[in-house]
Order: sequence, then C-alpha cells, then structure tokens
Amino acid sequence: PYSFYDNIRSTNPIYKGNFFRYPGWYVTGYEEANLILKDIRFQNRIPLPETTKKYEVLKNVQKQMMLYKNQPDHNRLRKIVSERFTPRALEQLIPIIKETANGLFCHVANQKRMNVISDFAFPLASLVIANMLGVPKQEKDQFRQWALTLIQTIDHTRSKESLAKGNDTTLEMIQYFQQLIQKRKQDPQDDLISLLLSDNQNGEPLTDAEIISTCILLVIAGHETTVNLIANSVYCFLTHPTQYDKLQANPLLLDSAIQEILRYESPTQMTARIAAEDLTINQTEIKKGDHVYLLIGAANRDPKKFINANSLDITRSPNPHLSFGSGIHFCLGATLAKIEAQAAIQTILEHTQKIKFETTEIEWRNLVGFRALKELPIIFE
Ligand code: HEM
Repeated sequence: PYSFYDNIRSTNPIYKGNFFRYPGWYVTGYEEANLILKDIRFQNRIPLPETTKKYEVLKNVQKQMMLYKNQPDHNRLRKIVSERFTPRALEQLIPIIKETANGLFCHVANQKRMNVISDFAFPLASLVIANMLGVPKQEKDQFRQWALTLIQTIDHTRSKESLAKGNDTTLEMIQYFQQLIQKRKQDPQDDLISLLLSDNQNGEPLTDAEIISTCILLVIAGHETTVNLIANSVYCFLTHPTQYDKLQANPLLLDSAIQEILRYESPTQMTARIAAEDLTINQTEIKKGDHVYLLIGAANRDPKKFINANSLDITRSPNPHLSFGSGIHFCLGATLAKIEAQAAIQTILEHTQKIKFETTEIEWRNLVGFRALKELPIIFE
C-alpha cells in the first residue's frame, strides 16, 4: 500500500477520495492524522452504516464498545478495565507470557520449522487474552475463529457474506459470554469478567450488554493486531537481514526494534472518524458528518516527520509512530502487545541462530485496515 500512500500524500495529506466505495477524507500526513486523532470533535463511530437494517446483532454489540463511544460513556467503559492494562499490572504477567512463548516454541523446536502465525503467534495471543478474561484454555481455538471472522466485518473490503457470518458469530459469542457472566456472578474469580461485574468505582455499573461488548472487543483487539505485530516482526527480520544481525548482536535493541516494526509495518493501517461539526484542519475544510479515514500506515511513513521514512532502522529514535492511535482511544492494550511481541521475539532469538523463509510465496491478506500476512512458514537452525 505504501506507494499508494506516498502518491496521495504528495497530492494532499488530507485527500478527498472514494476508495473501496467509501467516500471521505483520506489522511496520510502525520501532523494532520495526529491532530485529528487528538481532537474529540472528530468522533468515533461504528463501522456499519446506520442505514443497514441487517446485521442488527453485530451492530448492537459494536455500539456498546468503548472504541465507538464518545464521552462520558467512553470513560466509564474504559476506566473499569484499564487497571488491568497498566504497565505495573501487566508486569506480573511477563513470566507467564514468556513461559507460554517458550512452551509453544519448544513444541516445534525438533521439527526445525514452524508456521509463525498458526504455531506460535496466534496461540500465544489466544492464551494470553483467554487467561486475562478468565476463559478456559481449551476454548482458545474457538476464540481464534471468532476473531478471524469479526476482523473482516470492520475492514473496507468486507462483503455481505462476511457481515452475515460476523452477525452469526457475534450471536454465538453473546451466548458464550452470557453463560460465563452467569457463572462469575455466582462465583467471582480474579479475572476481567469478574472485574467488569464488580461495583464500578467510576460511575454507573456496566450492563450485561456492555460487559459482553467489552469482552468481544478484547477478543478481537487482543488477537489480530498482536499476532500481526509478531508475524510482521519476523517478516521484517527476514527481509532486512542486516537489521536482524544488528539485533542478534545486541538484544538490548529489542524494544526499539519492535517500535520500528510498529512504525514500518503497522498492524493497524487505518481507523475512521466522523466530523461532529464543520472544522478546518490545515486549511482543509471538513463539513459536519464527513467521514475521515486516518491512514496510520501512511502517517508513519510521512517524510516530513521521519527521516528515511521508507527504510527500516531498528535503532530509530525518537519514534513517535501512530500505530496505537492517539488521544482518548489510544490503544488500551499497547503495553500488553509490546510485552507479547518482546516475549515472542526473545524466544526466537534465544533458540535459533538462523531463520529463513520456508517458501518464497508469502502473501498479505486482502485487508486494507490491517497489515496481516496469510501465513509465515519459516525454517530455523
Ligand atoms: C484501540 C492498535 C493490541 C485493545 C486501538 C487503536 C489502535 C490500536 C490504532 C485506536 C483505534 C482508534 O482510535 O480508532 C493496536 C495494535 C496492537 C493492539 C497495533 C498490537 C500490536 C491490543 C491488545 C488489546 C487492545 C493486545 C487488548 C487486549 C484495544 C482497545 C482499544 C484499542 C480496547 C479501544 C480503546 C478505546 O477506545 O479507548 N488499538 N492494538 N489492543 N485497542 Fe489496540
């Protein structure tokens, strides 16, 4: 997508377009994207158009997600879970995340090959989010399927079929979480669902429907993007061997390498807003009700903000990429995602000397809002 981004950015960093039959402002400039993300007059809205009568279940669940809420509801929904996502709270999970990554790797170590996505990244992300939510381990494969189906419903490439499937999946998920909520009401545990059910110190307690929507949001958000960060990291190392050599020589660069991969191959490529009033951003007049598409992957490569923006440099500093968004909707799971990616890459660094593509046919999935490989089979020594 990067030459496309460069093209429209050079015409106008806030480009009026109609891509994938979604008319609106396509923002590719860093400064402009950052301004808009921070400005609450640009509101988040559910991705399904209000006129759609079908897919009611999916729409109703999306409507209750913090991601699509504005203040004050956003704050109420976010604050109650945020205590589990602070760096301090997550620190306790580091040993178990590392142990999980190690265990998954040891499982394939003898074969000297693995599929980075299905053998490693996906089960890691599933186990972590299932553990946090308080879902039994054996149900994590079901989670994976759900996450894969739902991610398609929020992408611009979505079809009627994928929306219909997403609607059915949402119904299944609602039923699943309803049962779990009943169990936790009777017998609270030290998990996120029990926390969501507890007295909300920050305002009105959450309704069951809000709790279910939060769980569904966490399942989707906790999977797809984290898996892609891990897979995109390995992909970048394979396509930039001198950068990988640098990291192998100095593993202390791991944190900055992950930041750079977030910038360079951002798992989230696009998010959207709607203007709540007439607004002017850097001389571009945006009318109330206009749709604004923020191309995060493009902002991250804006040459006005980043030197050699189209090159991967794992020592880049500072690196103020927008891959986790900005403003009130800044990614709740940013620290968790970084911990998981660090554990995954550290495991690979510790157990291998050399990694190689197993096949030359590596393909990206057909999505515009996400940067996701179909599969990533590698061999290692
Ligand atoms: C929001 C990216 C991992 C939970 C966001 C947003 C971005 C993003 C760009 C803002 C969207 C917007 O403003 O429209 C990513 C990336 C990840 C990642 C690139 C991994 C590399 C996670 C994980 C979780 C999570 C692991 C949770 C388990 C959330 C939630 C929101 C969010 C709940 C909504 C926050 C709000 O509305 O206040 N994420 N995310 N994310 N993310 Fe992540």
